Amino acid sequence: MSSPGGLSPPYQRSLPGGASGLHVAIIMDGNGRWAKARGLPRSFGHREGVAALRRTVESAAELGVSCLTVFGFSTENWRRPKTEVLELFGLMRAYFESDLKRLERRGVRVRVVGRRTGLDSDILNMINNAETRTAGNRAFQLQVAFNYGGQADIVDSARAFAEAAARGEVDPSALDERTFEERLSTAGAPALDVVIRTGFERRLSNFLLWECAYAELIFQDVYWPDYGPDHLRAALAEFGSRQRRFGGLAPGESLAAS
Ligand code: IPE
Ligand code: IPE
Ligand code: MG
Repeated sequence: MSSPGGLSPPYQRSLPGGASGLHVAIIMDGNGRWAKARGLPRSFGHREGVAALRRTVESAAELGVSCLTVFGFSTENWRRPKTEVLELFGLMRAYFESDLKRLERRGVRVRVVGRRTGLDSDILNMINNAETRTAGNRAFQLQVAFNYGGQADIVDSARAFAEAAARGEVDPSALDERTFEERLSTAGAPALDVVIRTGFERRLSNFLLWECAYAELIFQDVYWPDYGPDHLRAALAEFGSRQRRFGGLAPGESLAAS
């Protein structure tokens, strides 16, 4: 018997080009509290956070990750003071300026996911440049979620489908999980395996809501600026100890039940 709608399980998708490995997403949280604990302004925490990002990207591929999605700026982070928003945008720009060449050389494909509307043209140009220059790379995929919100992405996908239907390009009854997913800004990325959140909180804060359906959630009590390869290794070990069933039965139980 085939599954209703004939959907292939999303976890069977793989990277374009055939590379396989884990898709790990990280909510990089705790920069401000890291700085506060040291009597420093929040901006110091954000700067140290970029160094932690660099360390983590470096080690991810060696630890068996093929796609890493990091939460850089949420659609809700606009609620912060303007000076902090400008600082975070400045850091994104600085990260791309300083690291793009190295990422390009190492075969990293860079993608930026999230809403493009409301972003200045210089940021948009920088994003387009990074994506175009690295589009053919296959060794590793780095997705930066910037001006990203899970709800916003779902709404944008629904709107895009509705508009295509209004133009007569798609049949509304053809909407299913796959056609919906195709219009998310994360479309084409491998299925998400694990979400890591640092910074002592136990929530998703609107990150990858659709994609999290069967992702394993791991919370690590460390402020993001202190994060490094050992933390990522520990998270992946924890992931390795989890049993994923995707609504089915564990392998041994499937045999026993048949
Ligand atoms: C994460 O650190 C960085 C972003 C949200 C951009 P925070 O700035 O949220 O730091 P805390 O949570 O206030 O400590
Ligand atoms: C999530 O962290 C967003 C990013 C890491 C970019 P927040 O600090 O914004 O989340 P909340 O406000 O604590 O839920
Ligand atoms: Mg925070």
